[in-house]
Amino acid sequence: MMSAARLLARRLPSAANRANAAGQLRSMGHAQSFHINTPDNTPETYFDFTEENYQYVNKVLSKYPANYKQSAIIPLLDLAQRQHGGWLPVAAMDKVASIVEAAPSRVYEVASFYTMFNRTKVGKYFIQLCGTTPCMICGSEDIKKTIEKHLGIKNGETTKDGMFTLLEVECLGACANAPMVQLNDDYYECLTPKTMVELLEACKEGKPPAMGKWGSLPMNGQVSCEGPLGKTSLWEVPEPPKVNVERFKDGAVDPASVKAHMSY
Ligand code: FES
Repeated sequence: MMSAARLLARRLPSAANRANAAGQLRSMGHAQSFHINTPDNTPETYFDFTEENYQYVNKVLSKYPANYKQSAIIPLLDLAQRQHGGWLPVAAMDKVASIVEAAPSRVYEVASFYTMFNRTKVGKYFIQLCGTTPCMICGSEDIKKTIEKHLGIKNGETTKDGMFTLLEVECLGACANAPMVQLNDDYYECLTPKTMVELLEACKEGKPPAMGKWGSLPMNGQVSCEGPLGKTSLWEVPEPPKVNVERFKDGAVDPASVKAHMSY
């Protein structure tokens, strides 16, 4: 029987197929809801989790009831993507489908819905540049031009050496420290063209700067979201809400009464 991936591939208009083959529609598979076979990405391409990752697969599955294995689709796709160098071949999606005992199409629809999943190959350093209004007003266009000029690629392209992919995306939720990029998992914020080039050069040397105390790195030296005046509020650690530990004594809360149990 023909797989869903093959069916999807066959449905693709040939003109679009040709354009994509030439790299003209490339956007990490985010824009397209269909799969296109390429030499490194067919349903027949081999993919399996490593022995070590199978231990994590089992750990993830153990969180869900045996008849709700499909709840593990997102964490397993994420694991597969990390194992496969930052992108998800269709064979990896098929493997996840077989593990969670779901139809492959159920996994494809998850992978094609969430932009965190790349269904075409990306570089070692996947740069997602925020181009939404706050970042745009604060200079994201200059950052984009800087990246394009420094790396010799345009939006949606990967450098010939496979090191960098650039993709302009919508708001990444770090607007207070605009403009910013997400580099693989990490946020680099408060960028200028100069610090952007420094960041790219550090990546070329395999030494991207480590994240700061709060899990991101403003590149202008500020701490977290503190403005030019430094810390102006929240001088003290606020008192946490009071929790009545007695109610957890038996280790369970009746879901129907969760609202009543809220302590704030
Ligand atoms: S607008 Fe760029 S992070 Fe929100």
